[in-house]
Amino acid sequence: MSILITGGAGYIGSHACVEFLESGEDIIVIDNFSNSKPIVLERIKQIANKDFTFYEGDICDGKFMDDLFAENDIEAVIHFAGFKAVGESVENPLKYYDNNIGGTITMLQCMKKANVKNIVFSSSATVYGEPETLPLTEECRLQAVNPYGATKLIIEDMLRSVYDSDNEWRISLLRYFNPIGAHSSGMIGEDPNGIPNNLMPYITQVAIGKREKLNIFGGDYLTADGTCIRDYIHVVDLAKGHLNALEYIRNHSGIEAVNLGTGNGYSVLEMVNSFSEINGVDIPYEIVARRAGDAVSCYADASKAQKLFNWQTNKTIKDMCKDSWNWQTKNPNGY
Ligand code: WQD
Repeated sequence: MSILITGGAGYIGSHACVEFLESGEDIIVIDNFSNSKPIVLERIKQIANKDFTFYEGDICDGKFMDDLFAENDIEAVIHFAGFKAVGESVENPLKYYDNNIGGTITMLQCMKKANVKNIVFSSSATVYGEPETLPLTEECRLQAVNPYGATKLIIEDMLRSVYDSDNEWRISLLRYFNPIGAHSSGMIGEDPNGIPNNLMPYITQVAIGKREKLNIFGGDYLTADGTCIRDYIHVVDLAKGHLNALEYIRNHSGIEAVNLGTGNGYSVLEMVNSFSEINGVDIPYEIVARRAGDAVSCYADASKAQKLFNWQTNKTIKDMCKDSWNWQTKNPNGY
């Protein structure tokens, strides 16, 4: 039987493909290349030294998805495919609702028809909105604070309803904190379109001279150094967590939301200084106005993943900074 990985050519998806292949899983990858490039597939094969089946297509295309399930013996779906830019989701919410929610509905309907009822869903810590308490546990209040986060929350709710309608479903909702870093080979990594929204890719583009300086959004928050705190998690640790989640649903029915974070928070300035120190490269920056919607602090209680999945992160902030820089220097213009 095969594992279907949707969005497998994306940043997190590609790292998951490597881990699944290296652990001996037979995978089928689908991607529409709306936010990725075909070369990523070759890089995955080179790293893992294994081949896999690939279909170019869209989860929104019901016939494509029906045919795919009819042609293959699929055990479970690892569902990464979706748009993920917070700012874009505010400017163009219908694009996000249509693609992320509409596409997932189409895929779930095809899964049901094919009697495939095992899914690991790529959710996000953004479903917690502005944290009321810290560290964040899976029982904390959920709150959509932007259309992107709303799509994640709505899909989580949809999956709960699917499980309630048919307890044969086995569902894992993985809430990612802040994924950064890259595979140690430097062959795959984060390749944002245009100006990076997220901190680490912006730092690496400043470091390589593509950007003049980093704008730090706000220096007057109630934190030790005035900048926001986040739970940065190495993308390889995150990818491995999906293997643990798959093993869990292979042996347990039900639906579980699980945080994938380190449990540690680092400020923006701490990340900048760590990156500079570890890589020996200066990061010019300017502290500017706060970015609307930013939470002052957000980090996980990661104990449920440890208890349920026997999973915990192993990589350090140094690894994250080193591997991010290794990727960027080997791929100065991305893929
Ligand atoms: C981190 C910190 C910024 C860029 C978002 C999504 C979340 C997930 C991860 C998809 C914040 C500061 C950033 C810059 C800066 N994505 N920053 N200058 O906002 O925590 O989370 O990405 O799942 O859903 O919400 O990540 O990397 O954008 O910001 O000062 O140029 O870095 O203010 O404090 P964020 P981020």
